[in-house]
Amino acid sequence: MISRRRFMLGTAALAGSALTPAAIRAAPAAEPFPELRAAPATAQLLPADTFGPTQVWAYNGATPGAPIRVKAGERVRRRLVNDLPQSTAVHWHGIRIDNAMDGAAGLTQDPVQPGARFDYDFVAPDAGTFWYHSHDRSWEQMARGLSGPLIVEEPEPWLGADRELTLFIDDWRLTGEGMIDEDSLGSLMDWGHGGRIGNVVTVNGTVGPVLPVRAGERIRLRLINGANARILGVSLEGLGPRLIAVDGHPVAPRGLKDDVVVLAPAQRADVVVDCQAEPGARVPVKVYADRSWIDAADLVYDNRAALPTKPSDIKPLAETMRHELDMDKALDVRLDMSGGAMGSMERAMVDGRERGFDELVKLRRIWAFNGVAGDMDEPLFRASVGRTVKLTIFNDTRWPHAMHLHGHHFKVLTRDGKADPDGDWRDTVLNAPMETIEIALEASNPGKWLLHCHMLEHQVAGMKTWFEVA
Ligand code: C2O
Ligand code: CU
Repeated sequence: MISRRRFMLGTAALAGSALTPAAIRAAPAAEPFPELRAAPATAQLLPADTFGPTQVWAYNGATPGAPIRVKAGERVRRRLVNDLPQSTAVHWHGIRIDNAMDGAAGLTQDPVQPGARFDYDFVAPDAGTFWYHSHDRSWEQMARGLSGPLIVEEPEPWLGADRELTLFIDDWRLTGEGMIDEDSLGSLMDWGHGGRIGNVVTVNGTVGPVLPVRAGERIRLRLINGANARILGVSLEGLGPRLIAVDGHPVAPRGLKDDVVVLAPAQRADVVVDCQAEPGARVPVKVYADRSWIDAADLVYDNRAALPTKPSDIKPLAETMRHELDMDKALDVRLDMSGGAMGSMERAMVDGRERGFDELVKLRRIWAFNGVAGDMDEPLFRASVGRTVKLTIFNDTRWPHAMHLHGHHFKVLTRDGKADPDGDWRDTVLNAPMETIEIALEASNPGKWLLHCHMLEHQVAGMKTWFEVA
């Protein structure tokens, strides 16, 4: 009899030199998939001296869910077990994923019913700061806590900082008793205005956490905006912040205006900060909310002697995502947004029929892309693999929108006709009211992909379409 051990050695020997380290890591594992259980849970979002725990929906009992961490090229496997009272699905935001694993309920997979399970199994090809979240009734499920960080490490460790720290920032609307404000879930008012804006901001699942640091430390902060709808300004004043990546994409290290990072819902930023205060100091990280700056977290310096000062330049991250754009042969696609409060939308298509405003309100479809309110019969465009697509997006509404494409990243070319000063590659871009932006992507990933506003109330109320790469 051949022992299992000998058998496995034998297989490796047969494969010989064809097996790269990445391929070995990506090889099927024998163990069962780790479970990712979506279920009601409790979380101490608010200070325990005044409030009890909040009833939330969580992954494996935690909100945000525990960080999932792999190296670029490695495989992620999770068995989603649905213990919620409604169907669900998990989307791996920003990952250039195999289409069948994208988690877009109703487009790439059937919703996972209560009591059912679904095995997610995919390679995370690119390094960067990503996240995972519900993609079925996300406006409710994410308001209740179903999201978490997904960190893909560089293939070669990046040595530009002493350590890293993930700040998952979320925005909750709670009652005076500290419970999820359920009465306002699905409020038409929110859907037609700026989305569900909360009254409590948490960092890593709690209000005002204390984050111990050491004087002189250089830290890579991974900032994630997990809010339903709130655009976050995060002030890193006093920390000499330098931006090194947006939405997982390395950028040439650069400073930030007023030391503030602006993150639309779903956006991420990697920022290098230098802890420059004295041992024992307490320095807040502030978030702009409700027209004022609030202390969202406290950096508390321990009493160890300061580390030596770091060189002022920052080592850039290596880009692992490759794209090729051929603008001369680009497919031109236009997307006009309309609708919302104070907008001028009078009619739009729903389920293949044109509807007047009153009917749209009854159907709760109050935003539209090219006059179509969330109708999913036809894609916005079809492109062959490798084709460059130029999307011109005009925000003809009174609200900002956070436009997100699945399975692809894109380059921001222009804003109102002027070259975008940053020209970053991203997966989610903030589009101001009345602004026209041009973005370009390489249609590189075959399948059916969503394109929607990541203000989740806008998404459900009509700001959703898809495109097909074949
Ligand atoms: Cu963060 Cu459609 O996703
Ligand atoms: Cu929007």
